[in-house]
Amino acid sequence: MSATSPAAVVVLAAGEGTRMKSKTPKVLHEISGRSLVGHVVAAARELEPQHLVVVVGHASEQVTAHLNAGDAPVRTAFQAEQNGTGHAVRMGLEELGGTVDRTVIVVCGDTPLLSGETLGALAATHAADANAVTVLTAEVPDSTGYGRIVRDPATGAVTEIVEHKDATDEQRAIREINSGVFAFDGSLLADALGKVRTDNSQGEEYLTDVLSILRAAGHRVGASVAGDHREILGINNRLQLAEARRLLNDRLLERAMLAGVTIVDPASTLIDATVTYERDALVHPGTQLLGSTHLGEDSEVGPNSRIEDTLVGPGARIDNTVTLSAEIGPGATVGPYAYLRPGTRLGVKAKAGTYVEMKNATIGEGTKVPHLSYVGDATIGDHTNIGAASVFVNYDGVAKHHTTIGSHCRTGSDNMFVAPVTVGDGVYTAAGSVITKDVPSGSLAVARGQQRNIEGWVARKRPGSAAAQAAQASSQGADGES
Ligand code: UD1
Ligand code: CA
Repeated sequence: MSATSPAAVVVLAAGEGTRMKSKTPKVLHEISGRSLVGHVVAAARELEPQHLVVVVGHASEQVTAHLNAGDAPVRTAFQAEQNGTGHAVRMGLEELGGTVDRTVIVVCGDTPLLSGETLGALAATHAADANAVTVLTAEVPDSTGYGRIVRDPATGAVTEIVEHKDATDEQRAIREINSGVFAFDGSLLADALGKVRTDNSQGEEYLTDVLSILRAAGHRVGASVAGDHREILGINNRLQLAEARRLLNDRLLERAMLAGVTIVDPASTLIDATVTYERDALVHPGTQLLGSTHLGEDSEVGPNSRIEDTLVGPGARIDNTVTLSAEIGPGATVGPYAYLRPGTRLGVKAKAGTYVEMKNATIGEGTKVPHLSYVGDATIGDHTNIGAASVFVNYDGVAKHHTTIGSHCRTGSDNMFVAPVTVGDGVYTAAGSVITKDVPSGSLAVARGQQRNIEGWVARKRPGSAAAQAAQASSQGADGES
């Protein structure tokens, strides 16, 4: 907790969000790897408040479960009926014991672009000006639907906030709007909330009325104007959801580029807020970097790849590939057209090549699985080469079994390793083998039918066919030479 950190942040997330036209509560819709309310909670946490409480109501069980799902559960307050933003804050304060000393920040759960920096600047202005309330405002191109900031024409001081539905034509022309974010003197807030009435067009307790109530009681009221109005964009429908995703994605890519990551085509690249990277990583077009993915120094990913919850080692190369919960070792290469599923771990300079699928597989240093293979539930040692079109037959229809292959092996093309099976070190296997028994180190394993050539079969069984003619021509040619 820093000197300016607030006593509490109250996040309002009880509304349904009918305009989303969705089974899912509005605040649980996701952009850039987090729910809308998840972004707001993350920004709020940057302030290191003493208390953080999210007011839930509509689909409260689902929203509460979501808030408790991560490593750091979030406290919730329950608002049974959505009687307005003022009522919602009252429910939040009740959860915190009714009243809170020092600063209380209120923020809506549907403003995912709001940054911790902006919240911090609001808290700082509020403290420096010794205000009873400070509202975060913004000048917007189209203020339709928002609460308008009414200022005294002589002094410029904020006098009240008027909701769109309650505003006069003259007030509706105002472009400065209420973002829905406030800093309050906690010791005055509870009392003022008690004085909020419901005699407005929506019959609700408006939080915005607290501002004029405090002003009428002679307290200092202030406003802090956001530098970028897009930051306070509230999501009410799926168009705004897409707009917010694009804006946030641009911001996250910008941060990555300024940190030394090359993004070849920002317009076709998606990056989650939770992704981390090191300098000189390079991202080709059409790539999605998702979840807890980390890009190591000099790694190169894409084009057209989905890299999810994946640790990409320094200098690793991933091309046209999907990876999920995988670890790609330093200098390893993946793809083009590979599919690495959870539990895949590629060692230093290992290779999962073209049309290769892996799952729950540990691949040793310098080991290569270059072509058209499935490796599931396996451990492969170092510097081994797996022949093309091999399958690790891990499933007997009931249970999954493990295959172990040693180091410095050369397995032939089109091998089946029928698990459970263990292949030692330095082993060779013949092409087309079905390996069902363990192979001792240093052996050659051959497990396939013997080839038998039945000469003259085509002439006898397919007389007059094109094949028979070709065979005859070929044998005459051979005769002619002899
Ligand atoms: C509100 C503000 C408006 C501001 C706008 C900014 C009021 C009265 N109006 O309007 O001045 O310009 O936000 O986006 O405050 N909520 C609850 N419980 C309730 C009602 C709302 O938790 O009973 C939550 C909603 O889930 C939402 C937030 O409060 O996260 C804002 O509610 P919403 O209905 O979207 O308010 P607006 O009409 O947009
Ligand atoms: Ca809203």
